[in-house]
Order: sequence, then structure tokens, then C-alpha cells
Amino acid sequence: MTKRVAILISGGGSNMVSLVKIMQQDAQCNAKPVLVLANSDTAGGLAKAADLGVDTQVVDHRPFKGDRVAFEAVLHDVIEKYSPDIICLAGFMRVLTPSFIDKWTGKMLNIHPSLLPKYKGLHTHQRAIDARDMVAGCSIHVVTSELDGGPVLAQAKVAITPDDTADTLAAKVLVQEHKLYPAALKEFVRV
Ligand code: GAR
Repeated sequence: MTKRVAILISGGGSNMVSLVKIMQQDAQCNAKPVLVLANSDTAGGLAKAADLGVDTQVVDHRPFKGDRVAFEAVLHDVIEKYSPDIICLAGFMRVLTPSFIDKWTGKMLNIHPSLLPKYKGLHTHQRAIDARDMVAGCSIHVVTSELDGGPVLAQAKVAITPDDTADTLAAKVLVQEHKLYPAALKEFVRV
């Protein structure tokens, strides 16, 4: 059966677009996008999702004033209305607690811009440059209650060149993200 996929974003949503496109354009991809949800109505990806014909919702985290569990309860209720089988985090920049994660065990994926287990958390590209790494990259992993710590499904690497800044490296890695995440989702819904 075709898997129903909800995608959570916080920003521009370029990874979300790559996910929606493979689901809409690749007949072999056993999934369809049912919802794009952002935690702010300023997320640029919302308009892109609407243009692609995908339902959008916003659950703003700010009124919850740091009460993550209360935010997640509303988040869960809104998502449940779309009956997704899978959630894809695609640049969703809120840390989720077990109160949400445990409801989606084995059904939630994330893309992280580093070669996990290296550089969990933020500023991954600058940290790779500062460490004088020769390669950087991105990872797709199953979300568990350990931040950026769940089983890795796929990775892509890029070379770090001497002239790279965090911005140029991020741009190079993003090109790979847009290939890796759709491919990993397609494989995830195949098995
Ligand atoms: C992507 O680079 C993604 O890997 C990263 O945010 C960016 C979102 O871009 N995610 C994280 O850092 C998660 N910790 P996008 O909105 O254009 O897809």
C-alpha cells in the first residue's frame, strides 16, 4: 500500500521539495506526500509545498514558551488528522522529546548535514572545517530519542577544499542532500 508521508520543515524547504518531487514523479516510489507542516508561518517552504499541491499546516512553537511537550501534543494532533505512515524531518529545527518521538518509533526519518556520528547538533560544516576534515557530507537516519543518534540509513560525502567556508560547504552538501533523501525514502518505503 502507498505510504502516506508528512514532512516537517522550519525554513526554505529545499529538501522537502526533493521529497515531494520523487513521490509525485517517480511511479516506483511507493509513497505520497499528505502534509507539509512548519513550526513558523514564515517558513519559505510552505509556499513551495502549496505550489506542489500539498496540504500545509503551521504549528507555531513560540506561544508554548519552551513547553516542548505541550507543543508536541498539538503537533501530534495536527499531524494525525492526515493519517501519515511516515514522518520526514527536513530541516525541522526543533528538538523533539520522547513524548513525540515514542509515538513514531521506526517511522520517522531525519536528514542531518554531517557524516554521523560526527557533528551531531548545530554548525556541522564549520566544525568539520575547524577539525581539518578532508570530507564532509550528510546522513539520513531513523529518529530516536538520542539527538541525531538513530540508525543511519544512507550517507553522501563531499570533499572539503582549502577554500571552503561553512557556506560554500553547506551549498555543496545540500546538492547531495537533494539526491540522498529522496533515494533513502524510496528505499525505506520499498521494504
Ligand atoms: C539542510 O541542510 C538540512 O540538512 C539541515 O537544515 C537544512 C534545511 O534546508 N538540517 C539540520 O540541520 C537538522 N539538524 P532546507 O530547508 O532547504 O531543506
